[in-house]
Amino acid sequence: MPGLVPGIHVPRRKRLHVDGRDKPGRDDCGSLRENDSMTAMLEMRNVSKSFSGVQALRDVNFSVEAGQIHALVGENGAGKSTLMKVLSGVYPAGSYEGTIIFDGEERRFRDINDSEALGIIIIHQELALIPLMSIAENIFLSHPPSKLGVIDRDEVYRRTRDLLAQVGLKESPDTLITDLGVGKQQLVEIAKALSKRVRMLILDEPTASLNEADSAALLERLMAFRAQGIGSILISHKLNEVAKVADHITVLRDGRTVDGIDCRAEAIQEDRIIRSMVNRDLAHRFPERSAKIGEPVLTVESWSVYHPIHPERQVIKNVDFSVKRGEVVGIAGLMGAGRTEFAMSLFGRSWGTTISGRVRLEGHEIVLPNVAAAIDAGLAYVTEDRKQLGLILADDVRKNITLASLDQVAPRRVIDDIAELKVASDYRNRMRIRCSDVYQETSQLSGGNQQKVVLSKWLMTDPKVLILDEPTRGIDVGAKYEIYCIINELAEAGRGVVVISSEMPELLGICDRICVMNDGAFVGEFPGAEATQEKIMRAIMRNDRNYGSRALAGAEMGGSQP
Ligand SMILES: Nc1ncnc2c1ncn2[C@@H]1O[C@H](COP(=O)(O)OP(=O)(O)OP(=O)(O)O)[C@@H](O)[C@H]1O
Ligand SMILES: [Mg+2]
Repeated sequence: MPGLVPGIHVPRRKRLHVDGRDKPGRDDCGSLRENDSMTAMLEMRNVSKSFSGVQALRDVNFSVEAGQIHALVGENGAGKSTLMKVLSGVYPAGSYEGTIIFDGEERRFRDINDSEALGIIIIHQELALIPLMSIAENIFLSHPPSKLGVIDRDEVYRRTRDLLAQVGLKESPDTLITDLGVGKQQLVEIAKALSKRVRMLILDEPTASLNEADSAALLERLMAFRAQGIGSILISHKLNEVAKVADHITVLRDGRTVDGIDCRAEAIQEDRIIRSMVNRDLAHRFPERSAKIGEPVLTVESWSVYHPIHPERQVIKNVDFSVKRGEVVGIAGLMGAGRTEFAMSLFGRSWGTTISGRVRLEGHEIVLPNVAAAIDAGLAYVTEDRKQLGLILADDVRKNITLASLDQVAPRRVIDDIAELKVASDYRNRMRIRCSDVYQETSQLSGGNQQKVVLSKWLMTDPKVLILDEPTRGIDVGAKYEIYCIINELAEAGRGVVVISSEMPELLGICDRICVMNDGAFVGEFPGAEATQEKIMRAIMRNDRNYGSRALAGAEMGGSQP
């Protein structure tokens, strides 16, 4: 839809390829590189930034050209988000060192409005839409089209419809945000970005919470923007996605640029990216383990759960499930299959209504009416939603770690500060949590390090059964490996571990057994050694009435095999 996005510049250079596969030969590289530097739309030179004592960026050089998808990758805490906040004026000129050149001129942004005025639009990882407002209201909240000083509603609706069509959404402009899934909300954020004059789009982990179909749709959009001359900066821990769309990859480590890969000139090697990111060879993505599986530790029979708001809807349908001592059991399924609902209902009935069924822990039947009872019995649940449910962000690392085990550090109902400090510091070292000290506020930690705090909290309760819901979402490859090692250690210590994950390679890499859930029921089960991505998808497909378009995206799920 030409003309809808004002200010789009079509690149001067004809693109040699659109999908990253049709790469020019090596002889072309030199001239391509020359052209690259000629068309750089953005250059960040020698950027450094520190927060009281933490050097987040050191002398970073980073440039993006028009019509380029530039991926920015690096470990948790490497400085990716900080660099983008410098670029977009969230951190104003004067609060960092170095120079930003955009369109050939040095820029000193005072705030985000200054960068937006030039078409630099950032979409932060935490979506910022207003739930009880409509799509149209959200898109044009800050800049409604008006006629003679009055909001022109017809124009708002017309433009919203056009923008939604551009991002591939069929919803009406009147739809409330709260009625949309996270994936569609992400697309609304992009439509909102396009309603402004966008020349450079920054996406900070846009697909972390999207399902496969929505991620694929989003990446398609990026490729369409590329053809329109919009530059994009994509931050992602999903290297298979990066490999699919990026023209150039910059790797940050400890606040420095350590590698740059021109994907048009050389084949993308995930191993090289990972090595640059973590500064060591990661020969195996998954640690070795020899499983010693014992008696069942948790057994669930005829578990049935109804929806809390629509009590006529049975969400979990009389399922049986078990995990043995020393066993790692995976639960696979598409989004909405009921996996989180199953886990939360088990964990002290923290989700659902009219819950029935039997639970046995180490052979004894138990009733878990609330979360406290579940923790006391020896169950732990690491939520997929660490920001909302897993952490008290305004509290420090120490308090978050001891939160679920206060009795261990408060012998006479008064917290022993020294005991608390000691135990928190132990976990910090053991889990290699990157923070200035355990008194640092958790909101200041990068995503991966926040996840390690949540894990520490539950490890401290010394559970018999640990249920992990999407434990590695938004986590870099190195930290993922560390989390897999912790899972192995727990299993070796005779605990039962349940892992809910949307990343199939992860389930295939770490589980002794994989159960497949669909529409509130278990529809397949495979021993880890026999499971494949294809078998799991087939189990879902056979049982999914609404499979249709999701099948295609699902078949591509996960990317790299272990
Ligand atoms: N407001 C802040 N106060 C103090 N330290 C901060 C603040 N924001 C970021 N940091 C620190 O700066 C470093 C870089 O953080 P940043 O958020 O840029 O990492 P990231 O590469 O985006 O990581 P992730 O992949 O986990 O999102 C980290 O050590 C982080 O703890
Ligand atoms: Mg970040």
